[in-house]
Amino acid sequence: MKNQMCLFFLLFLFCHISSAVKHSFKCYRTASSGLQNVSEFMFFGKVDDVVVNQCDSTNKIFKPKQDWVVKLYNEDPEVLQAGRQECFVIIPFFFKHVIYNLTRTLQTEGAILQCIPGCELDETTGQFSGFVHCGYNGEDFLRLDLKTLKWIALSPQASIIKQIWDRNTTIIEYYKDLINHRFPYLLQRFLEYGRKSLMRTDPPSVSLLQKTPSSAVSCHATGFYPDRALMFWSKDGEEIHEGVEHGEILPNHDGTFQMSVDLNVSSAEDWRRYHCVFQFVGAVDRIITELDGTLIRTNRVKPDNLTVPVIAAVVVVVVMATAGGYMAYKMKKEAEDSTEPREDTNLNTETNTAH
Ligand SMILES: *[C@@H]1O[C@H](CO)[C@@H](O)[C@H](O)[C@H]1NC(C)=O
Ligand SMILES: *[C@@H]1O[C@H](CO)[C@@H](O)[C@H](O)[C@H]1NC(C)=O
Ligand SMILES: *[C@@H]1O[C@H](CO)[C@@H](O)[C@H](O)[C@H]1NC(C)=O
Ligand SMILES: *[C@@H]1O[C@H](CO)[C@@H](O)[C@H](O)[C@H]1NC(C)=O
Repeated sequence: MKNQMCLFFLLFLFCHISSAVKHSFKCYRTASSGLQNVSEFMFFGKVDDVVVNQCDSTNKIFKPKQDWVVKLYNEDPEVLQAGRQECFVIIPFFFKHVIYNLTRTLQTEGAILQCIPGCELDETTGQFSGFVHCGYNGEDFLRLDLKTLKWIALSPQASIIKQIWDRNTTIIEYYKDLINHRFPYLLQRFLEYGRKSLMRTDPPSVSLLQKTPSSAVSCHATGFYPDRALMFWSKDGEEIHEGVEHGEILPNHDGTFQMSVDLNVSSAEDWRRYHCVFQFVGAVDRIITELDGTLIRTNRVKPDNLTVPVIAAVVVVVVMATAGGYMAYKMKKEAEDSTEPREDTNLNTETNTAH
């Protein structure tokens, strides 16, 4: 009875979730004024958290990052041209003044300004919504209120820049056009070409690992896509937190992801009461792996034909982070990730790869 109620409740939640299909396009722009007196500009675009293109204004590189984006650029040179224009001309011109004025006003030497304009499409209503969020040296800085077209200071030192940006109509008009026209159009074009790839789900392969008989048991999931997934340990069907350590979701080289959750469990316990549960956020299926001592991989033994029991259950657990908390987390995370495309140094020889 209890289970039926639970199932009903969860299915209700699931219907609620699945009816709201959202897609987003976000552009992560970084202007840095570093050790030299030269400012550097770069950006990368993400559709539904998949990197679609990448720009390095300083070295004049603009390139697609997915096969389906290459196809879009080949078949619609205007979209490619707009990206190159943004990368080579508009961003350097626009941000040069912004970063110069900013660092002088705040009297800082080295500085990184990251602005993320983006738009989101709710496919059930067909409505677009947009945002512009800026960080400065890794901290939240300014956010544009698109109703009032005024900036909102997110840190004490942002107040003075807010006043400057509020008065600069070039900056306001630029973002207004981006959010209301150019990004919604771009998102639609990206979805036309990438929908199939973006909407796919690759389930993980899950394995249990343990270094020594006394160390924690690690439940490791790899090869999954998308990265909106969660994993936890349960005891008698209830999620547990004590003795559990969550690892971060990390990217694999093939575009899939991996993560692991460790459980510190004493050998005196009945291990079969514990399960490792993997689930895509908002999805129906769960991959449940029983803590079975015979299935654990260790450094000492190397079982080749390891099979992991996979049970799909019609249960949904919805993790609904508050929108604010999520954004703050994303900002922090993306700020950390923002240097990632630059590490890809072999880009330098690949100018104009779309042609
Ligand atoms: C930039 O740096 C060079 C030397 O590194 C210096 O000669 C030049 O005056 C500097 N320019 C500005 C505008 O500060
Ligand atoms: C406003 O910002 C733009 C873009 O960076 C810049 O070119 C322009 O000089 C600024 N206007 C004023 C009055 O500061
Ligand atoms: C920054 O821009 C504001 C407004 O355009 C201007 O009044 C101020 O003098 C500028 N500061 C610097 C250091 O360029
Ligand atoms: C596991 O738990 C035991 C007892 O609760 C504790 O002494 C031990 O330090 C823990 N080990 C790890 C790796 O957390």
